[in-house]
Order: sequence, then structure tokens, then C-alpha cells
Amino acid sequence: MAVPFLNLGRLNAQVRPALDAAYGRVMDSGWYITGPELTAFESEFARHCGVEHCIGVGNGLDALALLLRAHGIGPGDEVLVPSNTFIATWLAVSQCGATPVPVEPDPATYNIDPLRAAAAVTERTRAIMPVHLYGQAADMDPLMELARAHRLVVIEDAAQAQGAEYKGRRAGGLGHAAGTSFYPGKNLGALGDGGAVLTNDADIAAKVRLLRNYGSRVKYEHEAAGTNSRLDELQAAFLREKLKCLDAWNDRRREVAKQYGEGLRGLPLQLPEVPEWALPVWHLYVVATPRREELRQFLEARGIGTMIHYPKPPHLQDCYPAYHGHDLPLATRLAGEVLSLPMSPDLTEAEVGEVIEAVRAFFARG
Ligand SMILES: Cc1ncc(COP(=O)(O)O)c(C=O)c1O
Repeated sequence: MAVPFLNLGRLNAQVRPALDAAYGRVMDSGWYITGPELTAFESEFARHCGVEHCIGVGNGLDALALLLRAHGIGPGDEVLVPSNTFIATWLAVSQCGATPVPVEPDPATYNIDPLRAAAAVTERTRAIMPVHLYGQAADMDPLMELARAHRLVVIEDAAQAQGAEYKGRRAGGLGHAAGTSFYPGKNLGALGDGGAVLTNDADIAAKVRLLRNYGSRVKYEHEAAGTNSRLDELQAAFLREKLKCLDAWNDRRREVAKQYGEGLRGLPLQLPEVPEWALPVWHLYVVATPRREELRQFLEARGIGTMIHYPKPPHLQDCYPAYHGHDLPLATRLAGEVLSLPMSPDLTEAEVGEVIEAVRAFFARG
């Protein structure tokens, strides 16, 4: 049995009638940008995350960049970022003219290590951007403590963590503000690009609202040199429908993760580690082995799709030549060892069983 890494068409088909109705609603309304669907989605998603303000924007990268800008972060400022993340976290900092300062992860959870973050703070540090990687919250309490001590802003990159919890509170409401992404493959994915800013800070919310809309509150009056980055009505309408399924879909991801955890136990394979305070939403199920390439090819030959998140860390990318000499051994090692197994709420028990059986067969072969 072939098991694709991700089949979004199959997942979205589960809510096809609701998505069709959402499309019809927007189409018939004749209102396609910043209308009632966006307003409704913003308040529904804010409630889901347990925050006061949600501002829908064009994508996750913009959400993070707009937040940095709204906090007045720019040239000369340093922002602590994980060394092992999707490049968007770094690019948001670079876009503002500030300097990303990579911090190595906790080798067990792959999330930013608070002790290493503390060691990286300088007099230029303005913010920390923890990423809740693969759907599991970073250890936020020590980071917030560090931020308090140095008057830093904590901006969560919650792109992979919609619904994830840290000590009973949801990602997006754990720092001073958060950016998230509704890229189609995310736990809450649109049918195109989308993102949002989340915060309890009314002043920051107002600034982002302004900046996302040409710096304009009143049409043709421009208070700030803003940008155009709005979550459109159609995507907001689709997201409203999919938000109704998010908790159940996250529960199903947890079942899949449990089945993987039980089925893969005992193999010479690093499985995801979950601290007792974390309730992950398993955006990705990532295992690690120095034999990653062999395993990947073995699975591919059996029709099992896998992905690598991520094969090259930001500091080794061509767009960041100044970082090529940085010594970041954990990020570099992980890029060579991590492998994401199929993960989606629509996976059947038989499909997950097939993946487990294939991974076990790989290691049984020696
Ligand atoms: C951790 C992380 N940050 C930021 C982003 C950026 O989101 P987007 O692709 O919507 O710009 C993504 C997803 O793509 C991501 O995984």
C-alpha cells in the first residue's frame, strides 16, 4: 500500500460541502477584501488561541515581519532566532533590517534552548523569536523570564502550532505576540496563502492592522508607509469552516503520533520527545537517524512518502553568506538526520501501520 507524505485533496474533501458553501457565500457577497468573513474569522481564531486580537495577513512571513516592525525593531537590533527553523523566521528579521542571531536547540526537543538563548543576549538584543517547531511548544517560561530581565519582546513563530498547548495555554498566546501561517499544509491550512498576528497588546494590534493595509485607517489617508498584506475574504471563509475541525483533526494527529510512538519504540531511531508540559499538535512527526538517506530511499521504494524539515539550515543558505562560518553543530547535524514521516488527520490506522512496518523492516535488514 502506497502512503503519500500528505494528500491535502483527501483531507479537504472531508469538508468539501462546507468549503463549497463558503465559496458561494463570498462569491455572492460581492465583497472580497477585508469584509465580514475576515472580521468573523479574526474573532473566532483569537478565541481559539485565547488572545484578544487576531489580525489576518497575507502569509506567515508577513505576520512575523509586521510584528517586528510594529515593535520598532530595525537596523542595529539583534533578534534571537532558532538555528534550526524554516527560513521564514530569519527572513522576517532580515526584512526589518535587524540581525538574526542563531541560537542552538535543546537536542531532545529541537526547540530553542533557553540557556543558550540567555548566553546569546547582548546590549543590542531586542527580541526573541521562539518557533514551536513541528507543532510542539518551545519552553516559554524561561524565555519570558529572560525577556523580563533584559526588557526583550517575545514573538512566537506559531506557524506550525495551531492548537498546541504549553502548560494548558495555547500557542499564539504565550509570548507578547505571535505570527502564524495558514499555508495549505499547516494544521489550519487555507486553500492558498494566509497568515495572522495574535496578541493581547491592543497597541501592537492597531499598528499591525494599520501596516497590513497601506498604513491606512481611513481610505486614502496614509499614516504610515505600510504594505499590502491582508487575508482575503475567500481564505477567511475557508478557514472559518476548517477551524471548526481543527481540534478534532489535532486529536487525530495525536492518535497517529501515538501509534507511531508505540510501533517504532526500541529501534535505533530518535523519536520525538515530549516534555510533560507540552501538548503537541504534531504538525510533523520527525524521527532522526544518521542513516536518514538510506531509510528515506527504502521507504520511497515501498511507496511511502517522506520529507525533510529541513535539509539545509538557514545559516548555510546562499542568502546568508555571512553566517557560513558560524559554528552551529546541532542545526547542522539535525539537517542531516531528520526525516518527517507521513502525518495528517486523514491517515488511516492501516496506512500508519504500513509506515511502521516498513521502518521496522528497514532496521531488521541491518
Ligand atoms: C516555522 C515557520 N515560520 C514561518 C512560516 C512562514 O509562513 P508562510 O509560508 O505562510 O509565509 C512557516 C511556513 O511556511 C513556518 O513553518
